[in-house]
Amino acid sequence: MKLWLDTANIDEIRAAARFGVVSGVTTNPSLWAKAASGADYRDVVLEICSIIDGPVSAECLAQDVDGLVEEARNISKWHPNVVVKIPLDENGLEAIHRVSREGIKVNTTLIFQPNQALLAAQAGATYVSPFVGRLDDIGQEGMAVVREIVEIFDRYHLPTQVLAASLRHPLHVVQAAKASAHIATMPYTVFQAMFKHPLTDAGIQKFLEDARKAAKVKA
Ligand code: E4P
Repeated sequence: MKLWLDTANIDEIRAAARFGVVSGVTTNPSLWAKAASGADYRDVVLEICSIIDGPVSAECLAQDVDGLVEEARNISKWHPNVVVKIPLDENGLEAIHRVSREGIKVNTTLIFQPNQALLAAQAGATYVSPFVGRLDDIGQEGMAVVREIVEIFDRYHLPTQVLAASLRHPLHVVQAAKASAHIATMPYTVFQAMFKHPLTDAGIQKFLEDARKAAKVKA
């Protein structure tokens, strides 16, 4: 399972990039607003593309089909790694179908049930993003939707990749991997939590202390 960052914060992306394990980034208007850099969306996305050599999602905001198609065409020209995000409603589905035929890569966003994912895949989307945390927030098991989508795509050999999104804690990452999601996109805080464990820190300290003791005995 690939690990992507779900942020528009350039400092976070730089900090995570140094480990060489982050292979893509997802953004949306809320993340852009949260980053509060004052830079326009295109510039933020282009800066991300200069840091991470992999897919970078940028969201379309038009409300009608022609507007979505035009916006997707425009955004896809920003950089070869840019993937356009289109939400799965009626207009979104038609737009996904139209732009996918032109070779534009689409990350279908705001997926909350398997039928939406099945439609997006049939329309030619490259990725579907089930929003796990937002389903958990309303008392549904978000990860169950990831599992169902993976099962359906596997059964019918659909090439669309399942991108587990709206992940809120490190256990979500483990569950997404066990559900065979192709990708997990996560906030920087969740990424950091992936490599932290108090027993690791305590173990390092203990080894240092014991090495000092052993060195003294030897001397
Ligand atoms: C990613 O593509 C989504 O935009 C993001 O994961 C949504 O996360 P949220 O539900 O925490 O806002």
